Amino acid sequence: MTELRWEITEHSTLGDSERLGIARLKDQHWIRGVESQIAWLMDNTEAEDRHLMGFDENGVIRAYLNLNEITVVMDETPVVMIGVGGVCVDKSLEHSGLGRVLMAKAGAYLAHRQRTGILLCRERVQGFYEKCGWTLLSTEQAVVQGAEYTKRIMTRPCDMKKYGQIIIPRNF
Ligand SMILES: CC(C)(COP(=O)(O)OP(=O)(O)OC[C@H]1O[C@@H](n2cnc3c(N)ncnc32)[C@H](O)[C@@H]1OP(=O)(O)O)[C@@H](O)C(=O)NCCC(=O)NCCS
Repeated sequence: MTELRWEITEHSTLGDSERLGIARLKDQHWIRGVESQIAWLMDNTEAEDRHLMGFDENGVIRAYLNLNEITVVMDETPVVMIGVGGVCVDKSLEHSGLGRVLMAKAGAYLAHRQRTGILLCRERVQGFYEKCGWTLLSTEQAVVQGAEYTKRIMTRPCDMKKYGQIIIPRNF
């Protein structure tokens, strides 16, 4: 499997070339155009959010996710967590184990920060996250950025409790 150089960079110090690299990679999967990807990144990322990037030998970003500290309200109790989003690997490297390596890097960051990770996903990728040690969160109602959310929410480490309502303040 391709060896990448891994870096975690705070959003406030992200360079133009990294921003472009992230936008290009994300646009392979969520096709909106690179300009639109950059605009989304700037509008939905806060200064202290982190970008986890895997660079190949030419400095091209081949694997990516973001790590955003958020306060999630779980049955009225605020809990500081790390929101993991934008998870993707270069299409030419999919199914080679790189996604697993990427999620292991994120897991190490969560352990280092002593935080629970939370992510939002569609049913079709649930199996991938389960293989990476994440579990489905049980909740009757979820609200994300003020709107009802009906897709999957997963956490790591595993949270076996059943929640009535959870409120996630922003998308990530
Ligand atoms: C999802 C994604 C990151 C997986 O990366 P990848 O490099 O292909 O994954 P890996 O090769 O490391 O796979 C790890 C394991 O998960 C499994 N897996 C991969 N994608 C899967 C999926 N969609 N559903 C179920 N299992 C999956 C693999 O079979 C492998 O299992 P194994 O180790 O038992 O053989 C990658 O396909 C991707 O970038 N997808 C597009 C963007 C996306 O949808 N991201 C999720 C946003 S929530």
